[in-house]
Amino acid sequence: MISRGYASQPSIAEPAFGNAARRLRYTLAEPGPTALIACRETIISYALLRPLLFRLDAETAHHWTLAALKNAHRLHLLGAGGVPASPRRVMGLDFPNPVGLAAGLDKNGDYIDALAALGFGFIEVGTVTPRPQPGNPRPRLFRLPEARAIINRMGFNNRGVDYLLTKVQQARYRGVLGINIGKNADTPVEHAVDDYLIGLRKVYAAASYVTVNISSPNTPNLRSLQEGAALTDLLSRLKREQQVLAEQHQKYVPVAVKIAPDLSAEAVAEMAAVIRESGIDAVIATNTTLAREAVAQLPHGGEAGGLSGAPLTRRATEVVSQLHSVLGDTVPIIAAGGIMDGDDALAKRRAGASLVQVYSGLIYRGPALVREVAATLAQAS
Ligand SMILES: Cc1cc2nc3c(=O)[nH]c(=O)nc-3n(C[C@H](O)[C@H](O)[C@H](O)COP(=O)(O)O)c2cc1C
Repeated sequence: MISRGYASQPSIAEPAFGNAARRLRYTLAEPGPTALIACRETIISYALLRPLLFRLDAETAHHWTLAALKNAHRLHLLGAGGVPASPRRVMGLDFPNPVGLAAGLDKNGDYIDALAALGFGFIEVGTVTPRPQPGNPRPRLFRLPEARAIINRMGFNNRGVDYLLTKVQQARYRGVLGINIGKNADTPVEHAVDDYLIGLRKVYAAASYVTVNISSPNTPNLRSLQEGAALTDLLSRLKREQQVLAEQHQKYVPVAVKIAPDLSAEAVAEMAAVIRESGIDAVIATNTTLAREAVAQLPHGGEAGGLSGAPLTRRATEVVSQLHSVLGDTVPIIAAGGIMDGDDALAKRRAGASLVQVYSGLIYRGPALVREVAATLAQAS
C-alpha cells in the first residue's frame, strides 16, 4: 500500500507586518536574515502582498510566489498546526483532510514539500507528458480580478515525466500524492492512449493515485477523448494496464479521470455510466471552462483558454451533482472548480463530492483558504 504518510501542517498566525512589499524583493533574491523575516510575511500576510504580486505579469508572479514559498519552507518558516484534521478514506487511501491542491500549479513536482507544508490533505502534481514540451507561447496566463477568475492556455508546459519522477523521489512528503498525466501536443489524438499508457507505467510506483487528464481545453482535440467509444476504449485499456501493474508492483494504485464542465447533462450522464462500467476508481470534476458569459466584458475576458475561479463555481457543482445522480456512492467524486471559500466547498460536498481541490482560490485568497475550507468541511461532518 501507500508508503507516503502525512504532511506537516502550517501555523497561519496573524502577521505583524511592516514593509513586506519592499522586503519581498529580498525574499526572492537572497535567502539571508532579511529574507527570513520577509519570508514569514510573504506567506502569512498574503492579503498585503497580493496587490504587489497582481501588478506583475501573472506567470512571473506564479514563479516568484512558488520560489518564495520554497525559501520559506527551507528556512522552516512554515510550522505545524492550523488546518484541522478530518481524516477520511477514499479510493482506498487515507486522507488527513479532504482539501487537495488541484493539478497544474506544480506541473513538474518542484514544490511538493513546500506546498505540503500549507496543510493540504493531498497534492496533485502535473499534468505531465511523456516528453518535455514548452507549452503555448507567452502570455498564456491571465488574471481577471474583478471576477476572481483566471484564464490560462498554458498547453501542458512541463519538463516531462522523467524529470517529475526525480522530483517526487527527492521530496520528503509522505502524504497522498496524485500524479496527473496527459498526452504530448504533437502526439496525434488517434495515438493518445499510447501516451497515457507510457505515463501510467512510469508514474505508477511513485503515485498514491494517477489522474488521467482528458479535459484540458488547451491541447487540440484532447476533449474528444471524453466522447463515447473513445472514452470506453481509453478507460478499458488503462484499466487493463492498471491490473498488470498492480500485479507487477504488488500495489494497487487507483486511477481517476478528470472531466470538463462544458458538457450537456446527457453527456455527463453518459460519461458517468461509462466511468462506472469501466471500474475507474474516481472522477475529478471539473477542469477549466470554455464558457465566457460571466467575463466577456472584462479585461482579458476574451482571451483563449480555460476559465477557472468564481465564474466556474456553480457549473462545476452542477456537474458534481449530475455525476452523483448516476454514480451514487459507487465511484467517488473529487470536486474542483471555483472553490473560493468554505461554503463553496460545502456546496460541493452536498452535491456528492468526497474530496475537494483548489487552485484559483489559492491565488485569490492565499494559504488561509486551505485552513478555512478544511475547517468548514470538518464542522459539517
Ligand atoms: C494556470 C492553470 C493551470 C492548470 N493546469 C492544469 C493541468 O496541467 N492539469 C489539469 O488537470 N488541470 C489544470 N488546471 C485546472 C485546475 O486543476 C482546476 O481543475 C481548475 O482550475 C478549476 O479549479 P479552480 O477554479 O479552483 O481553479 C489548471 C488551472 C489553472 C488556473
